[in-house]
Amino acid sequence: MLQLLRCNLSVWDSDEPVPRAELLKGVAGAHGLLCLLSDKIDAEVLDAAGPNLKVISTLSVGFDHLAIDEIKKRGIRVGYTPDVLTDATAELTVALLLATCRRLPEGVEEVKNGGWSTWKPLWLCGYGLSGSTVGVIGLGRIGLAIARRLKPFGVKRLLYTGRQPKPQAQEIDGEYVPLDTLVRGSDFVVVSCSLTPDTQGLCDKTFFSKMKKTSIFINTSRGAVVNQEDLFGALSSGQIAAAGLDVTTPEPLPTDHPLLTLKNCVVLPHIGSATYSTRGVMSELTANNLLAGLTGSEMPSELKL
Ligand code: GLV
Ligand code: GLV
Repeated sequence: MLQLLRCNLSVWDSDEPVPRAELLKGVAGAHGLLCLLSDKIDAEVLDAAGPNLKVISTLSVGFDHLAIDEIKKRGIRVGYTPDVLTDATAELTVALLLATCRRLPEGVEEVKNGGWSTWKPLWLCGYGLSGSTVGVIGLGRIGLAIARRLKPFGVKRLLYTGRQPKPQAQEIDGEYVPLDTLVRGSDFVVVSCSLTPDTQGLCDKTFFSKMKKTSIFINTSRGAVVNQEDLFGALSSGQIAAAGLDVTTPEPLPTDHPLLTLKNCVVLPHIGSATYSTRGVMSELTANNLLAGLTGSEMPSELKL
């Protein structure tokens, strides 16, 4: 896209998150702000920016780091990156699910530390997908893409829950069920909903107590959907078999966190969309959203506020 727009750029030129004080200082007077999911954009930042600010463009599909009410109140437009990261994130979710249920990190560790003494009938046995019931919490773009990818593994039933039934679910023979039915009946519970006041802390003690003892919990959406203390309790007491997380609270998860002491918990560092091509396309989209916001034209991906 040829852009004839001239703008002054102030760039935090590092992979490390911009320090809060730098952000507050740097944003003053800006017309546009390009941010990452690790930047909390709240009233303080918006006030520091001042009345010039017309557009915020985030390099993410999630927008729980943006104070939407405050943004809306100020008439600021928001760009984000749906669709372009759906395949990469669904793929990572399937990888995490397989790594967790077939105990891949444990196996790799045993090979390295000499624990592999011989072939043993029950050693490192896990749970397979074939013939299983998978429950997807939040059958949005990514949830549907996960379900599509899981079907060919021989999954018997695909349950899903959310605000309302989705016509797209027909394609994967998805059954719309209440959350309670999904949690009780699934061998694999996959969280793929966005973080909202409704889903914050959704996966708590009661939730885990309803899951089967042989079931696996997977979360690739946002860490705050899960009460991590309750998850730790469920994993360490054998209430559930295992968990795979690509998202945690906080991020990064401290290296001495109790969850990291558990063999049946696989934690990844929020890499759902981390393929070279996806991050490239996300970056272009984020820049184009920003430019469109600055010129007052239609954004390729505008969040409806
Ligand atoms: C990743 O978590 C995103 O929101 O893009
Ligand atoms: C496994 O390697 C088998 O031969 O059953």
